[in-house]
Amino acid sequence: MNNLKNQLFYKFALVVFILILLFEGALMIALKKSFDMHLKDKLALVASQIRPEHFSSQKLLEIQKKDKIFPLFVNIIKTKQEIIINNKPIKPTYKASYIYNSYKREKVISYITQKNGYIIKISTIYSSNDDKIEIIKTISLLISFVIYLIVLMLGYKFIDTIIAQIEISFKKLKNFNSNVSHELKTPLAIMKSEIEVGLMSENKECDKTLRSLLQEINYLNDITEKLLFLTKNDLNNLNLQEIDLEDIIFELFEKYSNKIHISLDIDENDTYIIKGDKTLLKMAISNLIENSIKYKAQKIDITLKKTKNKIILIIKDNGMGIPKEKLPFIFDEFYRVDESHNKNIKGFGLGLSIVKNILKAHRAKIKVKSEKGVEFSIEFPLKECSNS
Ligand SMILES: Nc1ncnc2c1ncn2[C@@H]1O[C@H](COP(=O)(O)OP(=O)(O)OP(=O)(O)O)[C@@H](O)[C@H]1O
Ligand SMILES: [Mg+2]
Repeated sequence: MNNLKNQLFYKFALVVFILILLFEGALMIALKKSFDMHLKDKLALVASQIRPEHFSSQKLLEIQKKDKIFPLFVNIIKTKQEIIINNKPIKPTYKASYIYNSYKREKVISYITQKNGYIIKISTIYSSNDDKIEIIKTISLLISFVIYLIVLMLGYKFIDTIIAQIEISFKKLKNFNSNVSHELKTPLAIMKSEIEVGLMSENKECDKTLRSLLQEINYLNDITEKLLFLTKNDLNNLNLQEIDLEDIIFELFEKYSNKIHISLDIDENDTYIIKGDKTLLKMAISNLIENSIKYKAQKIDITLKKTKNKIILIIKDNGMGIPKEKLPFIFDEFYRVDESHNKNIKGFGLGLSIVKNILKAHRAKIKVKSEKGVEFSIEFPLKECSNS
């Protein structure tokens, strides 16, 4: 659940960040545009105050001060007559050009108009008037940052509440599962023993029916056990002992070698001691071997090896394999690779999630690949196992 909470929070933080970035971008574009308009209006206003016949540098200074527009350049060219293009006097126009000084490129905005037989060109440097935008930009960035932090805090609280609700529902569901499984366990055990007694009698007529009933009951028993394991066991508080993985492999070899060909590759000179729960680890590895048998493997290769900081156990079979795109899901509860792939093979999709939970409690990692058959490789960290 903590993982889910973190994932949700990171995604939420990213989305809010992108939204704020977009908002800032739009705000800056709007600001520049309105500033641009404002500057152009100012230049037109300056032009309206200029009487070209009596213009002096004194007047230029006055206008600069009054309209607060720095720097201000005014060019006045006398023409003999009004300039006419296409039978119309030229309209006042704006022009943007660039000048280069030693540091950077500067944008120059000019307003050109004609008045009383003069062409008047008024220009200013855009960036010199840019300071106000810079101030607004900094303030708005600060405000956005504060808003971002507040939204993150609120979002975290919100996600926390939702996850808490989900956790409560999840616990209820687990309790429900556990109660149902528990209730099923006793009648199933009774039925099973009754049938086994029935099978011992000489009545051949009932034999077939009883055997098929027993098979179904074993099936129900299996799912009940698996559900109970997943809902009841507190794998966080294991009583870890020093155990030898090699012993577990040998015991399982004894158990399964009459059902499938198993080849072992274990370097006898190494030791494979970790801290763990032997029964649980045996259960996890059994699940993998039973899957290989169930999914039509003829042989299993088991390799146990040790590196500087881990012990690696590889279980490789030559069975029907798993399509690559299904591999990421096989450890999920109740997930089974689609039924056509499994044909008539029964299962609940719980085995591998039990394996995953047991290994997680041992801080071991499991990886799977499938080319011809399936290969599970489990890494037990040596350091953490001996520390825990
Ligand atoms: N060795 C394997 N070879 C081929 N497919 C496998 C192998 N191991 C697992 N799978 C696929 O992964 C799925 C999930 O396996 P898992 O052990 O969790 O469930 P299951 O075997 O279907 O049922 P359960 O173990 O609960 O009885 C299986 O349905 C199967 O399709
Ligand atoms: Mg299984």
